Amino acid sequence: DLDGDDLRRDPRLKGHGGRFMQVVGAVLENIDNADTAIRPLLFQLGERHAYYDGFKPEYFEQYKKGMMYMCEQNFGDKLTPKLRDLWTKVFNFIIDSVRDGCVEALRHREDDRQYSVARDAQVTRGTI
Ligand code: HEM
Repeated sequence: DLDGDDLRRDPRLKGHGGRFMQVVGAVLENIDNADTAIRPLLFQLGERHAYYDGFKPEYFEQYKKGMMYMCEQNFGDKLTPKLRDLWTKVFNFIIDSVRDGCVEALRHREDDRQYSVARDAQVTRGTI
């Protein structure tokens, strides 16, 4: 359970910015079929994030803010409202797709856990 600063300092995230930007590049190169070709891959990437120790889906909103901050720092005055809108759309598409996969994986995990708890109770009671 990390806040913004801890998240930034976490050694597990060293190099993550580069991986994120690679994904941004791939999305922009395939923008014409982003929904069919790219979204499923981002969804799977999100499923993997669900298994990172201590990871919470709430972090994705923070990540969006971080990416917009990065844009402001890098583009400075060149970040026109139109350009800002465009980058917001790109980041939202990527991060929301990753988040959807993550949330889905967490839901499955919770379903599996409840199933095991119920089954263990049945075994204990001797009903199966
Ligand atoms: C919300 C905050 C996020 C956190 C805390 C986080 C954390 C992590 C961690 C701990 C790893 C494993 C270590 C590593 O390979 O660097 C990882 C891998 C990775 N993350 Fe994230 N991540 C976040 C969001 C995202 C988003 C939005 C993307 C979208 C592109 C992304 C893309 C990747 C990629 C491409 C990898 C490489 C491993 C793989 O393909 O499974 N991450 N992330």
